[in-house]
Amino acid sequence: MTKKSIAVLCSGGDGPGMNAAIRSVVRSAYYEGINVYGVYKGYEGLLDKSIAHLDLSSVGNIIQRGGTVIYSSRSTRFMEAKYRTQAAEFLKELGVCGLVVIGGNGSFNGASLLHNEHGIPVACIPGTIDNDISGTEFSIGFDTALNTAVEAIDKIRDTATSHDRTFMVEVMGRSSGLIAITVAISTGAEAVIFPDLTVDLASVAYTIKRGVSRGKKSSIVIVAEGEKEGLSHLYQKELKEKYELDTKLCILGHIQRGGNPSPRDRFLGSFMGNMAVKAIAKGEVAVATVVRDGKFTLAPLSECLNKRNDFDRSLLDLLNTLAL
Ligand code: F6P
Repeated sequence: MTKKSIAVLCSGGDGPGMNAAIRSVVRSAYYEGINVYGVYKGYEGLLDKSIAHLDLSSVGNIIQRGGTVIYSSRSTRFMEAKYRTQAAEFLKELGVCGLVVIGGNGSFNGASLLHNEHGIPVACIPGTIDNDISGTEFSIGFDTALNTAVEAIDKIRDTATSHDRTFMVEVMGRSSGLIAITVAISTGAEAVIFPDLTVDLASVAYTIKRGVSRGKKSSIVIVAEGEKEGLSHLYQKELKEKYELDTKLCILGHIQRGGNPSPRDRFLGSFMGNMAVKAIAKGEVAVATVVRDGKFTLAPLSECLNKRNDFDRSLLDLLNTLAL
């Protein structure tokens, strides 16, 4: 009998812990007697037929490494139906019985289309630092990104205190404010700005000045990056011109996407990779590995296709209370 095969790819923005998931997919598949193809650079690799057979040792010594050893991309070609047909034909040529997709919301939508249009069985693993996939409480990379941002902001706090300064620190997350609010509370920030909510710079300036007048030696304002680039610069300018508040601006950027994954992200990747392989082996056709009520479970992919931009608004009250 010919051995069954599956393919695995990473798509969209990378995130620490993806390598743990790849390792888990490969090792779990071998345990089940399934052969694994790694697809390079996400959906682009399906179009360019860029793949490699991943054996047990090819995923050795990667669990602790950031990035993804099979690389990633944001494929615009895959958004067109004709290219999805091409990708599906290639997967059928390879004879795979399923595709594991590690990525964010856009990657999940791509997988869903591949399944709906061409019947390819797909198992998706949430992998994005933004943690904004609906249907799961956690995605791989979020925890490490939080740790990286918090460590950086603690350092900024040191120098801010030495110089009596206010810093604005922009964190990633696109339209999701989850990194921003979590980091703000965890670093004892004085204020947080979400470009996608009403921005009240008057209140930010008031809070900072109130702190300074009671003797605070430093202040931190976390800015969620939002959908549009460069907004922090505008806020910085407005705080200076309208409210006479001098600030330094630090954009943390892509350092939040790299680095050694936290134990939590290694664990998520390891657990979810195993679940995804078992799901395909069992004949599931369109599922996602998710965390719900703190427990790992499989969910229909259709429940995980939207973005989750919301966060618990009472966290803002908590931040404001603690920033007094
Ligand atoms: O989706 C993850 C993410 O890091 C977002 O937080 C950020 O807005 C975006 O990717 C940046 O994407 P790129 O690396 O393609 O510029």
